[in-house]
Amino acid sequence: MARTVAIAGAGSIGVAFAVLFASAGFTVRMWDALPSVFDRARDDLNNRLAMLGDHGLIAEPAGEISGRVTFHEILLDALRGAELVQECVPEQLDIKREVFQQLGAYSEKHAVLASSSSAIVSSEFATATPARERVLIAHPGNPPYLIPVIELVPSEYTTEETVDKATEIYRAAGLKPVRVRKEVEGFVFNRLQGAVLREAYCLVRDGVASVEDIDEVIRSGLGRRWSVIGPFETVDLNTRGGIESHAAKMGPAYERMGLSRGQTDPWTPDLVRVVTEQRRAALPLDQWESRVRWRDEALMRLKAHFEGGPVAARPAVRTPFRL
Ligand SMILES: NC(=O)c1ccc[n+]([C@@H]2O[C@H](COP(=O)([O-])OP(=O)(O)OC[C@H]3O[C@@H](n4cnc5c(N)ncnc54)[C@H](O)[C@@H]3O)[C@@H](O)[C@H]2O)c1
Repeated sequence: MARTVAIAGAGSIGVAFAVLFASAGFTVRMWDALPSVFDRARDDLNNRLAMLGDHGLIAEPAGEISGRVTFHEILLDALRGAELVQECVPEQLDIKREVFQQLGAYSEKHAVLASSSSAIVSSEFATATPARERVLIAHPGNPPYLIPVIELVPSEYTTEETVDKATEIYRAAGLKPVRVRKEVEGFVFNRLQGAVLREAYCLVRDGVASVEDIDEVIRSGLGRRWSVIGPFETVDLNTRGGIESHAAKMGPAYERMGLSRGQTDPWTPDLVRVVTEQRRAALPLDQWESRVRWRDEALMRLKAHFEGGPVAARPAVRTPFRL
């Protein structure tokens, strides 16, 4: 029998989760407080699946996948048989509390109750229900059928069993769950995005660069690399001797940049030691050269992809590919 998930809230993220789960073979039961949104949600679902089909990214005809998604006006109907409920209602504490109170009351006894919340931590609304041990944040990238990471953020009430079940379900749907160990506003995804955006706004304000040029630096620079390795691995591989050597050489400059923005969070020797230990556990220094080659090959594949394939296979006159 197909596994079942329920989705509460049929807006952008709710529909995107429906695309993800239905494409992975799950039965999806959707509910929204405003059933008038269902027509738009159905159209969005069909359009997204058709686009995925055009790119060869679904294993079945789009119609078969959308056939696994049903829309329900009554919450109780949507929750029937669901092992996971993905809450996708607006980012407002009062709405989240009201919805979780109902999910706690009407969901299957062992269902995981996951919130897509972008910044609000779940301990602020899990207390609305006695089923608080089954509540956690599962914050996706947008859209989750294209951005595979999902942040799992348990609260002090969440059981390990809930986190394990959620991890298994999201993996079965093709996502890469990341565990966030403490409740902090914005979790990891939006805190990192926030750090970049805060600096980007300052650079525009100070006349250092235009909006378009800053986007280009990310698109053709940092972002290109970050799609294969993260910021820690980037600097680990950029400096012979690894991240410890990078921190020694570049730490003071980064500290001055932080201070110029009123931020005093130096990379202390203890902190650098913790980061270095984790990097060396992931990549012993004697494998550094081969990992640099691996990175370059990954970037070569990306370059060929963005520029339309290997040089020999390209037409003589071509329009450069641009995202
Ligand atoms: N849009 C993004 O990029 C993004 C990314 C990650 C996470 N999120 C989070 O996902 C959640 C949903 O965001 P969205 O962008 O899909 O919002 P949205 O406004 O597109 O959709 C929200 C849906 O909730 C419904 N709704 C409103 N009040 C409700 C209620 N009381 N009970 C049930 N349904 C109700 C609305 O009718 C609407 O269909 C938010 O917490 C948001 O922060 C959004």
